[in-house]
This record gives sequence, structure tokens and C-alpha cells, in this order.
Amino acid sequence: MSIRMVVAGGTGVVGRHVVEQARAAGHDVVPLSRSSGQDVVAGTGLAEALAGADVVIDVTSTSTASAKASVAFFRAATENLLAAEQAAGVGHHVALSIVGIDGETSGYYAGKVVQEQVLAAGPVPWTLLRATQFHELVPQLLGRLTFGPVAVVPEMRTAPIAAAEVATALVRLAEGAPRGRVADLGGPEEARLADLARRWSVAGGQRRRVVQVPLPGGSGRRMRDGSLLPAPGADRGRQTFAEWLADRRPGQR
Ligand SMILES: NC(=O)c1ccc[n+]([C@@H]2O[C@H](COP(=O)([O-])OP(=O)(O)OC[C@H]3O[C@@H](n4cnc5c(N)ncnc54)[C@H](OP(=O)(O)O)[C@@H]3O)[C@@H](O)[C@H]2O)c1
Repeated sequence: MSIRMVVAGGTGVVGRHVVEQARAAGHDVVPLSRSSGQDVVAGTGLAEALAGADVVIDVTSTSTASAKASVAFFRAATENLLAAEQAAGVGHHVALSIVGIDGETSGYYAGKVVQEQVLAAGPVPWTLLRATQFHELVPQLLGRLTFGPVAVVPEMRTAPIAAAEVATALVRLAEGAPRGRVADLGGPEEARLADLARRWSVAGGQRRRVVQVPLPGGSGRRMRDGSLLPAPGADRGRQTFAEWLADRRPGQR
């Protein structure tokens, strides 16, 4: 059955896949982001975009590492979306969060914790999926953290997953009834972020030196100590980092 899905953050790394896969499945898909005139933080353009929607998938994000800025972003985005959904009669909000962030008060993860709290206390029936880091996070971070010939990445244990597989899960959840928190979704194998960054650089013919640094605070500790890895019983994606890397065309590296 075709339904009307609004994808907030539909131009982002995972959002692009959500939009593409939802359209391929025959749904009526409305991507929403600042580039198409809607702002979830300011709350502008939401009423028009949500008119007639059955479900909203929220995959918006901010690139900040500041807890204050992340909390401000995710609180405002979630509150504004939920209010607009309630006004428009939307009966299902699907959100994407991150494995292992429970109770974190530092860095970007602090905002994700608040997003989950606002969602759970909000007026719209919801589904929450937590996933591990995307394979795509490696080039995303290298783009921000490369300084001349050196890239500085956080010391991190991760079980990365293809954003496309996370999108598949989100579309499937959006097609169903609200389920609250569902099983976590992790990638098929564990790696160190710095090793992934080196493999990405070699595959792209880039001679950068990758240095890993322990980040301070609770977020940094979680990255190092395995807290962000999927627990036994989590659902697991199939595509390994190596397979994902092999699929990239040279221009995508
Ligand atoms: N990246 C990971 O490894 C990972 C892992 C697990 C979970 N997640 C979660 O997945 C979600 C998506 O992450 P991502 O990496 O795909 O994000 P991303 O690539 O940074 O994309 C963010 C999206 O949000 C939109 N956006 C940003 N500010 C906005 C605003 N004020 N109003 C409306 N739209 C706005 C952006 O479009 P415009 O710039 O045009 O507005 C873009 O479409 C996040 O909630 C993140 O926490 C990410």
C-alpha cells in the first residue's frame, strides 16, 4: 500500500537513501530540509510539507560536537516536528538514534539523548531505531578533520553499517504501525575508526597520515571503550566496510 512519507533531512547521508528506497517501494515521498525551504529548528515550512502525510521519518542532523548546540538542535527539531505532526494529524513519527548513548551528557550524543526523551514524552505515536556509525561517517569525518597531509580522528571502536541498510530498516518501520523502541541495528563486524580512515585514504589514492586521538569527556570514553558497539541480540547489517568501499566509484572516494 502506498503511503505519504515525509523525510526530514531527506538530502542527508542516510536521508537520500530513505527517499530513494521509499520512492522505489511506490510511496509518495516528500523530502524536507533547508535546501527545499523548510527549517525544523525555526519550525518554518513544516505545516505545508506535512499536509496529508501518514508518517514522518526524521533523519535531520547537525555537525556540531558541542553538547549545548546539539541539545538545542535536536530539542527544537523534535519538538517542532511533533507539534506540526499533531496539527496535521500525522499518526507516526520514526526517529533514528545511535547505539549505546544512554544517559550521555557530553558532545553530539547529548542531543540524541534529548531527542529520544522529547520523542517519548511527545504527542505523536513513535518508533525509534538506534543504529551504529555509518560506513559513510568515515569520509564525512575525514572531510572535516583533515589538515594538510594529516587527519585527526577520534579513537573509536565501531561496528559500522551501510547507510543504505539503515534506510531499508527505516522505510520498513515507517510502513508499519508505531512500535516504540525497536531492536538496535549494527554493522556486521567491529573495527577501529582510524583503520577505516586509513583504508578509505588508500583506496582513494590519498597519502594522508591518520592519527587517532582520545576525545575528552563521556562521549570520548564511550567511543574508546566499546559502549557504542551493538549488544548481543541486536540486528546486524550485511555489507562490510570492505564491500562498501569496493562498491564506490573513484569519484565517490
Ligand atoms: N552518521 C552516522 O554515522 C549516524 C549513525 C547513527 C545514527 N545517525 C543519525 O542519523 C541521522 C542522520 O544523520 P546523517 O549523517 O545522515 O545526517 P547529514 O548527512 O548531516 O544530513 C543532515 C540532514 O538534515 C538536514 N538539516 C540540517 N539542519 C536542518 C534544519 N535546521 N532544518 C531542516 N533540515 C535540516 C540537512 O539538509 P539541509 O542542510 O539542506 O538543511 C540534511 O538533509 C542523525 O539523526 C544522526 O544522529 C547517524
